[in-house]
Amino acid sequence: MSGAVLDKVSRRKAADSPWAVETHGLTKRFGESVAVNSVDLRVPRGCAFGYLGPNGAGKTTLIRVLLGLTRADAGTMSLLGYAVPRHRDLALARVGAIVDEPRFHGHLTGRQNLQILAAAREPAARGRIESALDRVGLSHRADDRVTKYSMGMRQRLGVAACLLGDPQLLILDEPMNGLDPAGMHDMREMIQSFVAEGRTVVLSSHLLDEVERTCDAVAIVDRGKVIRQGPITELLAGTSIEVEIDCSTPEAANTLLAGSSHGQVTVTEQGLAIALAAGRIAMPSPRSIESS
Ligand SMILES: Nc1ncnc2c1ncn2[C@@H]1O[C@H](COP(=O)(O)OP(=O)(O)OP(=O)(O)O)[C@@H](O)[C@H]1O
Ligand SMILES: [Mg+2]
Repeated sequence: MSGAVLDKVSRRKAADSPWAVETHGLTKRFGESVAVNSVDLRVPRGCAFGYLGPNGAGKTTLIRVLLGLTRADAGTMSLLGYAVPRHRDLALARVGAIVDEPRFHGHLTGRQNLQILAAAREPAARGRIESALDRVGLSHRADDRVTKYSMGMRQRLGVAACLLGDPQLLILDEPMNGLDPAGMHDMREMIQSFVAEGRTVVLSSHLLDEVERTCDAVAIVDRGKVIRQGPITELLAGTSIEVEIDCSTPEAANTLLAGSSHGQVTVTEQGLAIALAAGRIAMPSPRSIESS
């Protein structure tokens, strides 16, 4: 079969896959340490999917493996139904990604940076620059040098760069990093609007609360291993964690906490027991667990 016919067959097979990202036993080691540990991931098309875990859990490494920026040691993967690395070119033509943080030429303007990135893509990418800038709310600053951009503006420019390829899949590594509450709100709305258009957004985060607000489904990763995954409503339904606090005046503390939204408070012999709803729990880093 000729290459063109093979591509056509691959495209048809890919379109039949219900998964935007699928991995089986995906593993990446750095020496003795396993950064991505036999990960089986299934990200349905057309949803916002959170890859949630503390610092060092292997979120960025998984993204780098998916994009072919580093090689897997074991396992298989597909993006938009295309087996990669075999059909990486076909897959990546419809993937936009930000890894770690977006990097640009600081001495050039936002628009000039997008022009350079568009030149490396299909011819239609150039025609998407203005709508991408408009979409992320940067049109009025597009002729400023990127050195003058705030962190939030760089994140927006990163998303605009993703849009140049009219992506079916966006992979965003910690897109809320460095954003103030208003910036986080805007980013969340942008992500949800992409999903409303039928695109899939995979984002990594260490913020449970943020993933809960933004995503439809989640995989929870700890030390490279996915420990749970599924629709967010199923995973978080009824989940709570109980924290015991030593306290010399538990009754007084209980009165102070009465009516607060911190969770269910019970007075115990030592102090207080507070049942926190999952959405209120920050993800601790392994280091903070180890040192506590
Ligand atoms: N190039 C590398 N060489 C050696 N070890 C690495 C390399 N990149 C990552 N690691 C290790 O792999 C593990 C996972 O790192 P990774 O950056 O993927 O975590 P992360 O979940 O993205 O963390 P963060 O929330 O801090 O961004 C860490 O223990 C890290 O030290
Ligand atoms: Mg990371």
